[in-house]
Amino acid sequence: MTTLGTPLSPHATKVMLLGSGELGKEVLIALQRLGVETIAVDRYDNAPGQQVAHHARTITMSDPAQLKALIEAERPHLVVPEIEAIATPMLEELEAAGVVRVIPTARAARLTMDREGIRVLAAETLGLPTSPYKFCNSLEELQAAIDSGIGYPCIVKPVMSSSGKGQSKIDGPADVQKAWDYAMAGGRVSHGRVIVEGFIDFDYEITQLTVRSVGADGQIVTSFCDPIGHVQVSGDYVESWQPHPMHPAALEKSRQIAKAVTDNLGVGFDGKPSGLGLFGVELFVKGEQVWFSEVSPRPHDTGLVTLCTQHQSEFELHARAILGLPVDTSLRNPGASAVIYGGVEALGIVFDGVDEALRVPGTDLRLFGKPESFAKRRMGVALARAADVETARSNAKLAASKVKPRKA
Ligand SMILES: Nc1ncnc2c1ncn2[C@@H]1O[C@H](COP(=O)(O)OP(=O)(O)O)[C@@H](O)[C@H]1O
Ligand SMILES: [Mg+2]
Repeated sequence: MTTLGTPLSPHATKVMLLGSGELGKEVLIALQRLGVETIAVDRYDNAPGQQVAHHARTITMSDPAQLKALIEAERPHLVVPEIEAIATPMLEELEAAGVVRVIPTARAARLTMDREGIRVLAAETLGLPTSPYKFCNSLEELQAAIDSGIGYPCIVKPVMSSSGKGQSKIDGPADVQKAWDYAMAGGRVSHGRVIVEGFIDFDYEITQLTVRSVGADGQIVTSFCDPIGHVQVSGDYVESWQPHPMHPAALEKSRQIAKAVTDNLGVGFDGKPSGLGLFGVELFVKGEQVWFSEVSPRPHDTGLVTLCTQHQSEFELHARAILGLPVDTSLRNPGASAVIYGGVEALGIVFDGVDEALRVPGTDLRLFGKPESFAKRRMGVALARAADVETARSNAKLAASKVKPRKA
């Protein structure tokens, strides 16, 4: 039986989000609707999620001492990582000491914190198909890895980075130095380690949202959403849609891979399969062939589309699953999302054309409320539902193009 409390009372059910961007904001709203007391943590003030939570805290989440002090002071029932750059060994310590439960598990947060833990788990421990890869600590090691089997074309990524930062494709020997320098400049933490991956010439890529929730008999059950198709530009998502049509054999393989990865990440420090929540499993597909790429043990940016396609969005699914509540992953209607970038570098920008955007049939918008805009910062997203994915895609893109961010 799940019991929920009253927020701001001694019997509140308290959840702390570590990272409070646009994805965390939607999880917080879903939690608020269930009367959960929420604490939104980020590295800067007035982050999107902090604007809708009961409490806002600003700390450096990669600093173990700050993280520990905050968790011990707030004593949330659940800690929900929304980003990767967190002092995850400290979360493991606190979880093992029984201070807090981490979603899905502190171990999963640690393994997915950089590209190495999860890639080694997927390819070497679980034996799942992935691109060929090597980890390198210098330009010389990178060149040697390419020459001794990875070959051209290939992709170089800092081990610690997300949203395509520091990532580039190498087509031939002339690009190697440039890719190395770019990776060194774009990594989140300045340690010179990269992964080089053989380029997979896929037909399309999908996100397989996968949920671990408590079933009626108390056992953990795994459910799948319809596949989400997406387009990435320079490693950053610009457009997504659901459902993406798939060959039945490729869909089945995708779900087997997603199940294998999430089953493993769901195992806690004590060896028990206790991990709950939604995962975004990224897969490359060519014909009936499927490769595992990476996984977020939390809602996925391409899954923003589920705000207009599913009965329960990925954020509601995450909120329900982590609280031990049942979930419904069914599709309501086809739909699409298109990203709205800031375009300008300024504080407190304004958005022209919101009315024009919403005149496009079947559309909706999320403006995230980020205090500062950068040219390539995701400031909002247009959503469109339609009878088919093609119409939804063109309407989402049209609506996004009508929103014009500018300096105030
Ligand atoms: N080995 C690869 N072969 C082909 N395309 C790739 C490969 N690795 C990454 N990509 C492309 O780059 C995108 C971003 O890479 P990803 O590893 O998911 O980085 P991030 O963690 O920044 O999302 C992928 O969604 C895909 O479009
Ligand atoms: Mg990715």
